[in-house]
Amino acid sequence: MMTFIDTHTHLYDDDFDTDVADVIARAMEAGATKMLVPPTDLRSTQKALALCQQFPDLLHPMIGLHPEDVGNDYHAQLETMEQMLAADHKSDNPQFVAVGEVGLDYYWDKSHKKEQRDAFSSQLEWAARYRLPLMIHSRNAGNDLLECMRPWQHKLERGGVFHCFSGSIETANQLLNYHPRFYLGIGGVLTFKNSNLPLTVKHIPLERIVLETDSPYMAPTPMRGRRNEPAYIPYIINRLAEAKGITPEEVAAVTTRNAMQLFFGIH
Ligand code: NI
Repeated sequence: MMTFIDTHTHLYDDDFDTDVADVIARAMEAGATKMLVPPTDLRSTQKALALCQQFPDLLHPMIGLHPEDVGNDYHAQLETMEQMLAADHKSDNPQFVAVGEVGLDYYWDKSHKKEQRDAFSSQLEWAARYRLPLMIHSRNAGNDLLECMRPWQHKLERGGVFHCFSGSIETANQLLNYHPRFYLGIGGVLTFKNSNLPLTVKHIPLERIVLETDSPYMAPTPMRGRRNEPAYIPYIINRLAEAKGITPEEVAAVTTRNAMQLFFGIH
């Protein structure tokens, strides 16, 4: 059977509260061997951690403050999260596999740009200090993202993911060339009608791609508009295989290897 890793699913989301065990069972039936869970604030970090502890070796939490959740209390949230991260780092069985999802988003909220950059920089510093990969969210942030990352460029030993990538070939090349340890997270957008992403992924080495649903959001065609879940990753695998002219099995095998290498250091 074809197996895969969903590197980005918000399984702690309220949308999954009533049937998360069924969602996870369907994912495993579809071939999921691991699901990585990026929170967006302190509350969801606690919720994600508790959920993942119920499914050890299958679900793995990240820790982070999402740019859209950077509000007036961001200092306090970051402080508590860093205490959690430091304690986890010292424990015999660390749970957090990445810092995420973090980054910049100027699409909805332009009033906290400075605070977003400040929060992102703090979390880049965590990734460097605790030697964790990053799960990066970027929307309408232009050059600010790369500007924030520049001072850390050589200190982010574990690399990370540019999540929900949907840009051009030029942008992809720029990101991947500047950040040799980073991958592009490819999800449902790839399957959308009129998406340019199939053209872009054709030119990106499969060795630089990881798969993600971003569930409950971004459901791929033909599930578009519904609640997304990790069991839908095969729609993305099939579209990626079609775009690159290779087999779905090859897409699944290489992207799984990429995710194991990036998040678990397994080569
Ligand atoms: Ni997300």
